[in-house]
Amino acid sequence: MISVNEVSMNFGEQNLFEDVNVVFNQGERYGLTGPNGCGKSTFMKIVSGDLEANTGYVSRPKKFGILRQDHYIYETKRVMDVVMMGNEVLWNVMVEKEKLLENAENMSDEDGIRLGELEMVIAEEDGYMAEPEAAELLEGLGIEASFHYGPLSALTGGDKVRVLLAQALFGKPEALLLDEPTNALDIASIRWLEGFLKDYVGVLVVISHDRHFLNEVCTRIADIDYETIIIYPGDYDDMVEAKAQARSSLEMVNAAKSRKIGQLQDFVQRFRAGSRASQVKSREKQLEKEKNALANLKRSNIARPFIRFDLARPSGKQVLSLNALSKQFEDCMVCDELHLNIFRGEKVAIVGRNGVGKTTLLRLMLNFMHPDDRGAQPEGMVTTRPDDGGADWGYETQIGYMPQDHHEMIEKSKETAHHWLWQWNSEANEEQLRSLFGRLLFTKDEPFKRTEVLSGGETVRLLLARLMLLKPNVLLLDEPTNHLDLEAIRSLTEALVKYEGTCLFVTHDRHMVTQVADRILEMSDGHLRELSPEQFADGQFLQEKKASKHPAAW
Ligand SMILES: Nc1ncnc2c1ncn2[C@@H]1O[C@H](COP(=O)(O)OP(=O)(O)OP(=O)(O)O)[C@@H](O)[C@H]1O
Ligand SMILES: [Mg+2]
Repeated sequence: MISVNEVSMNFGEQNLFEDVNVVFNQGERYGLTGPNGCGKSTFMKIVSGDLEANTGYVSRPKKFGILRQDHYIYETKRVMDVVMMGNEVLWNVMVEKEKLLENAENMSDEDGIRLGELEMVIAEEDGYMAEPEAAELLEGLGIEASFHYGPLSALTGGDKVRVLLAQALFGKPEALLLDEPTNALDIASIRWLEGFLKDYVGVLVVISHDRHFLNEVCTRIADIDYETIIIYPGDYDDMVEAKAQARSSLEMVNAAKSRKIGQLQDFVQRFRAGSRASQVKSREKQLEKEKNALANLKRSNIARPFIRFDLARPSGKQVLSLNALSKQFEDCMVCDELHLNIFRGEKVAIVGRNGVGKTTLLRLMLNFMHPDDRGAQPEGMVTTRPDDGGADWGYETQIGYMPQDHHEMIEKSKETAHHWLWQWNSEANEEQLRSLFGRLLFTKDEPFKRTEVLSGGETVRLLLARLMLLKPNVLLLDEPTNHLDLEAIRSLTEALVKYEGTCLFVTHDRHMVTQVADRILEMSDGHLRELSPEQFADGQFLQEKKASKHPAAW
């Protein structure tokens, strides 16, 4: 059980929640919901003890597992190490021991004593069983042994989340806290995760913006709104209904009270100077009472950003051509002599399972990465001409790229969002920047937040602001809906429909594909296949390949 008592949190003027009292019980699966920036990740950090609340306290089980919102922080680490980091005490001690042993020849007496202390902690934490336990967890989640000692970056998006889950589950936690585990997962992996979580027996608290996922997994919803957290029984749809009802009856009661107050005020004013003094007095008393009873209705924090992409100028008709583009990683063929022509104004969705190479394809298009060369090259020849099997961009194309891993563009630092945005177009004046920030819901002094404190959704909104500022005629978006709340996804979808330039986007969001795309390309086994809307709608293409890679998991 996790119990949260009288917890309040604010950052300066921004009040997230006040006097929260909630209990998360064993055997229930809680969805933690609310719009971008409402404080879900902050609340989870308070629950886990990563962050101290302004007031109040939390009692939590000794062992709990956590999956943080940023899935990219462990990219360069070994898979096995990532899992073992799940036991922080043990991991820190093991790292310290390794350091001491590196210098074994010159070990001082002090070092020797320290080593003894570390050994004791390792024994207490069952350290010598840690590696086999981690390996067992990984295999149980479908990560084959050949990957265990390689870097996390070698795994597909779906498998990375499995490793992070293994980290969270390492040491058999009584509670599991997961911050947006479905970001970047394909539909098959999400279905797998749903099944996995339904079997988890401890207390589960999971943050997500995915309505379907929440409905599937959760038995309770803890919703952050109106500066508090309320737990509703049932799934996400049940919560939306109950919340709307509660709000509307509160509003009705308040409206009735306001009318009554108006009448009482009228009466008091009219007869104050007259002969009905005693009646006036009693009305005044009543008036006071009604005013006190009037609920202080806090504003909802649900809001919709206003996204619109204009063009500085149009591109030529031919926008992009790929001519026998190839790329192979070890024994995995990501692109096998791809041919593709894209013309001005086309909206092209690229879909496909985790790990088929969609991000790699975009990076090849951007020439961030060199394609393999076609055929044998004469010895000593320079083989990186971009036109040799690479991407050929047409006349006057200006590309606006949004990466899947946001760190590629926004380093988490002390730099303010305002300064970060300004650097992309230093000719933009203050008024233009402020107007852009306003549309993207950065109000008052929020543009001056440091990039390191931005929430997941706020970071995406800042990346979108950059594209709105640059006005490119080609948008290349890698999973743009990850981290965004429902209102923001709606606004982004509308903006892409209205956009007059050319757009290529990778997504697992089926609704976005059907609303925006006029061409759908499915990527698999190094090839691109054009899908009709019907083929896409029946979802056949995703099911066909599921069985091959992780038969146990899927
Ligand atoms: N250390 C900090 N200093 C100032 N503001 C902060 C700090 N940490 C978070 N914030 C702000 O608090 C708000 C809540 O952030 P949080 O990351 O909890 O949101 P969230 O609900 O998880 O959003 P998302 O759905 O986008 O992930 C955001 O507006 C964020 O910018
Ligand atoms: Mg968050």
